[in-house]
Amino acid sequence: MLISQRLKDVYMPTGDAFSLMSDLRITEKTYGRDAVIESVLGCFLDEDENLISMDVVNETYKNLSSVDLFSYAASITGPNDYRESVKKHVLGDHIEYFANSHIGVVATVGGSGAISNVIKGYTDPGQTILLPNYVWEPYKIFAQSNGLNCEFYTLFDGDQFFVNDLVGRIIKIAQQHHKVILMINDPCQNPTGYSLSFEEWEQVVQALKVAAQYGDVILLDDVAYLDYDFRGHSEARRHFRLLAHLPENILSVIAFSISKSLTCYGLRVGAEIAISSSKKVIDDFNRVSSVLGRSTWSTVPRGGMDLFVKLHEDENLFAKLKTERDRIIAILKERAKIFLEEAKNIGLYHLPFRGGFFLTVPMWPELTKAVVQDLKRKNVFVLPIEGGLRIALCSAPTRKLRLLAQHIRDSIEKCQSR
Ligand SMILES: Cc1ncc(COP(=O)(O)O)c(C=O)c1O
Repeated sequence: MLISQRLKDVYMPTGDAFSLMSDLRITEKTYGRDAVIESVLGCFLDEDENLISMDVVNETYKNLSSVDLFSYAASITGPNDYRESVKKHVLGDHIEYFANSHIGVVATVGGSGAISNVIKGYTDPGQTILLPNYVWEPYKIFAQSNGLNCEFYTLFDGDQFFVNDLVGRIIKIAQQHHKVILMINDPCQNPTGYSLSFEEWEQVVQALKVAAQYGDVILLDDVAYLDYDFRGHSEARRHFRLLAHLPENILSVIAFSISKSLTCYGLRVGAEIAISSSKKVIDDFNRVSSVLGRSTWSTVPRGGMDLFVKLHEDENLFAKLKTERDRIIAILKERAKIFLEEAKNIGLYHLPFRGGFFLTVPMWPELTKAVVQDLKRKNVFVLPIEGGLRIALCSAPTRKLRLLAQHIRDSIEKCQSR
């Protein structure tokens, strides 16, 4: 076999958003845009169904100099001003809790680059990674292409976060394998839109401390949707406090991305923010992340990093950014309200939702396939995931959401009764 043994059975995602979108474009050409409901893309579309980037982001980027746009970044790990600015932004008003912690920040190619670096840098083939059972499916690709086994924690027990399932698995894996690698996508989890409460986070972190008595612990919190938490800036970040002063054999890494935060998905800029009580752990983190960046993508696009710094260090630009993002959050809230109200009225069950771009209508795999096909016949496009349908509140406009809920409920009833 020519390809690597490691990749011969590598997983392909359940729903292929790209092929669904190409079917959708054909349908749109035939029937017109108004006759089609699109709830597939993980990008924000405005109420006219146009993919937008925020004006202040657009203008600031276009005003960067040619050198900023086209030359290499100064270092593999990213310039100091970018790393400082990311640290301040991500930790927000909780930064004071980290006065005695060691923190490493490394620029990456999007949030994906951060996730990839952590998996490559902190796992070995044959080890087990703990993932949520409703999951952003690329995590499985990251895991499998690096030879990891996936174990899934059950996110919900009825309408509650199933904290006991997660805690139990953390401790069992620590006892059996002496190493825990835990992936959490919080706040605004993709695909459910769930955000753990501070108290739920306390229980998770307490379990990690117990696990650390049996072996090393890597916590990876993917915060791709951090800036769209309906609870607001400070509350979205409050759980980070719990990551200060943990035992030295626990490394916490926050995977940050500007893709959603600044609506610039294709710019490919993100960062890993590593937190530890040990200087040596962070020195190792900086070295390993630098080597991984060098051996994968070299430097991160300089223009995107400069853009981030300008928007966060200039008060006027920052105020504009906040206003524009708040407008997007208000639209997401309104879309969520409409869909959830309609779902309640017509008896369409969905998983617990707290905020962000997506929510999930759970169903078993055979039904999911049939429902997606039936929806397509009605010119409705929704992404199938393992365990249900992912509703993209970010892409479907307010005026189509009641109908979307009704179509889904009708298709479920029709396919169930076959
Ligand atoms: C949960 C989650 N994590 C990470 C990413 C990766 O984002 P990026 O474009 O920054 O690589 C995405 C993008 O859709 C996502 O949904």
